[in-house]
Amino acid sequence: MEQKRRVFSGIQPSGNLHLGNYLGAINNWVRMQEEYDNYFCIVDLHALTVPQEPEELSRKVREVAAVYLASGLDPERCVIFRQSRVSEHAELSWLLNCVARYGELSRMTQFKDKAQKGGAEVASAGLFDYPVLMAADILLYNAHAVPVGEDQRQHLELTRTIARRFNHDYGETFVVPEPMILTTGARVMSLDEPKEKMSKSSPRPGSYISILDEPDKVRKKIRRAKTDSGSEIIATEDKPAIANLLGVYAGMTGEKIPEVERRYEGKGYGDFKKDLGEVVAEGLAPIRERTLELLDDPAELDRLLDAGAEKAREVAHPNLLRTWERMGLG
Ligand code: AMP
Ligand code: TRP
Repeated sequence: MEQKRRVFSGIQPSGNLHLGNYLGAINNWVRMQEEYDNYFCIVDLHALTVPQEPEELSRKVREVAAVYLASGLDPERCVIFRQSRVSEHAELSWLLNCVARYGELSRMTQFKDKAQKGGAEVASAGLFDYPVLMAADILLYNAHAVPVGEDQRQHLELTRTIARRFNHDYGETFVVPEPMILTTGARVMSLDEPKEKMSKSSPRPGSYISILDEPDKVRKKIRRAKTDSGSEIIATEDKPAIANLLGVYAGMTGEKIPEVERRYEGKGYGDFKKDLGEVVAEGLAPIRERTLELLDDPAELDRLLDAGAEKAREVAHPNLLRTWERMGLG
């Protein structure tokens, strides 16, 4: 039998999982899981790059695991695990730190944005180094493809650069991974500020829809979402708010944006938002309910994560040893 290509992706257990995480990442993982050999990580070490409440963090790890399962990831087909429990990630990260360059990391826009918000002087060194840990996550499994949202493109480009440089300097070792970024849902914007991406760390709950928001809250947030001037329901550049809502609609139903535009020809924003509220509320409701059920049995989630870590290590460990050897630590 032909070997399946391998996929790796991850989400940080910080803040609230939102519609952007669902449409940009999880929903695509669910759809492709049959075709690939899948590794889906809960990247708790990445979450530490900005301050976290220790107690909150372990609760969030289980919540992300529960959302993965509730969204339809099948533990028989996907290795689901926690990054910190496979210490090879941190170890490879150090080795790759010695391959990545300061100049490259200085150019990462996510670091520049985040550091600018809190003040670059007090940003953690971990925040600066974040993309190298991400490269380690991916290269440790020799993943062929990495399904993520648009915001991760630059980090993936760096991962490719690191892999190529390593292979050039030390001999063929890592698969150079391809980004998998879909066109619809890859960049969901804030509901109240369509120029900003929907984000977990937003202090404004009206800006995002959490996967765990109650259906009525979802409807209300969409009703209140910002719209543009004019009345046509079309995704043009001068209509960033409506374009975003159309993208959400299409992402949730699996349609293409032009199909949705056609359906709403001649209709008003009010009708469109009302329907969109239903589409999103109904789409998320079963995921929310199943997540809450799963969270009732934290021991079972922990067991699943431990089993996942063990499977992950079977791939990660030999790859780390090989990297040691290549670098002269064998
Ligand atoms: P994070 O929330 O930063 O851990 O991101 C987890 C995954 O969700 C990554 O694949 C991101 O690219 C994706 N993602 C995060 N925010 C958005 C967004 N607003 N739109 C689309 N995808 C997103
Ligand atoms: N940096 C990613 C994000 O914030 C999360 C992440 C960490 C990741 N390691 C990864 C995504 C490896 C894909 C592959 O969205």
